[in-house]
Amino acid sequence: MTEIRVLTDEAQYRAHNTLFRRALHGGPPTDEQWPVTLPSYEPDRALAAFDGDQMVGTTQSYGSSLVVPGGARVPHAAVSRVGVRADYTRRGVLTALMREQLSSLPDPVATLRASESRIYGRFGYGLAGRVRELEIDTKLAVIAGGMTGRVRMLDPDTADKLLPELHEAIGLRRPGQISRWPGWWARMRNRKPETENSVTVVHSGPDGDDGFLTYKVTGEKDFKHRLAVEDFEWANDDAWRDLWIYVTRLDLVDHVESDVALDDPVSWLFEDPRALVTKDVFDQIWLRLVDVPRMLSARTYGAAESVVIEVHDRLLPANSGCYRVSADGAERVEEQADLTVPVDLLGAVYLGDVTFTQLASARRIEGTRLADADALFAVPQKPICGTFF
Ligand SMILES: CC(C)(COP(=O)(O)OP(=O)(O)OC[C@H]1O[C@@H](n2cnc3c(N)ncnc32)[C@H](O)[C@@H]1OP(=O)(O)O)[C@@H](O)C(=O)NCCC(=O)NCCS
Repeated sequence: MTEIRVLTDEAQYRAHNTLFRRALHGGPPTDEQWPVTLPSYEPDRALAAFDGDQMVGTTQSYGSSLVVPGGARVPHAAVSRVGVRADYTRRGVLTALMREQLSSLPDPVATLRASESRIYGRFGYGLAGRVRELEIDTKLAVIAGGMTGRVRMLDPDTADKLLPELHEAIGLRRPGQISRWPGWWARMRNRKPETENSVTVVHSGPDGDDGFLTYKVTGEKDFKHRLAVEDFEWANDDAWRDLWIYVTRLDLVDHVESDVALDDPVSWLFEDPRALVTKDVFDQIWLRLVDVPRMLSARTYGAAESVVIEVHDRLLPANSGCYRVSADGAERVEEQADLTVPVDLLGAVYLGDVTFTQLASARRIEGTRLADADALFAVPQKPICGTFF
């Protein structure tokens, strides 16, 4: 019989971390890594499944906030470190962990990154944000004009001190972005060897520092290199454009790769549209509406006639019911529904990655008044998270 417990001490956290890493076929944390990992364990947020006194499965969340359409920041659980010991898989351990985690989260919304895309829909997570993986040929990537501001390179110690503050000061631009929790920066720095060759540059404009970009360059063959953008945030279009100029004009770099929002305008920077190819489009944000009424009230809506949406939620039945959504907000009602939507697909439309009409065409939802529902949930910009966890 699997029992789910909330972990409370460092020894349990380390066992949790070891089990999760093994589930991903990695080794346990080293003595050097552990002090950096430990602060990412927050009270009441690490759960484990036990068979007797043996730990057999893990999940965890980091407390942060999520930007929703309209710009509000909502308390958010970034769910991570989901793993089941290989000799205990397909016996319902993950199901037990998910049930307990969702029913005890203090936050009205959770997101995660899925190792495999068929795992989390059954727990009410919907695919709410995809990203485009770009490759840019720097020989073709001509951007007209020069920089308007200044880009300067930071030494690693200065970057460690400056970036958390700068990230907070820049703010979060798009729905789907999340604030970074204590321990996030130290852990990213510690993800060696991937980050040991990382370089950070900061942009400053007339009002001071307003953007940063962290990248890593690897050799392709003699004097030819590939630059991977690891972290890129900006406060305004000038910072964004100048940092793109910087990475595409670096000597001895032939290709630049970066993950961007589906509607990111980067291709319009280049005179030659073939300077850039989309290598892949993949799922990034899996979103679970934990408290549907609160989340429907947290975002804003476009101008359209109101629509009544019936939500079905097997795991958290308190969410099930009808909601009238209008340009003024959302409220629970006892009325005839126009549309019926399972909670995972309401999560999928919530940030604007997909529309009700698209889901109805694919026979994933049923109902009428699709055009009004689309107009209410329409967003000016596609979501992106931008923070790895
Ligand atoms: C993914 C993982 C956590 C699933 O744990 P589990 O205890 O085997 O899951 P459960 O037994 O509760 O399975 C629940 C359902 O999900 C399905 N499922 C589980 N893992 C799946 C997968 N990788 N692909 C497709 N379906 C999966 C099961 O078949 C089961 O379906 P059913 O209810 O129709 O029978 C586990 O296999 C694991 O640790 N994998 C390696 C690490 C990993 O990928 N972690 C996720 C990081 S995001």
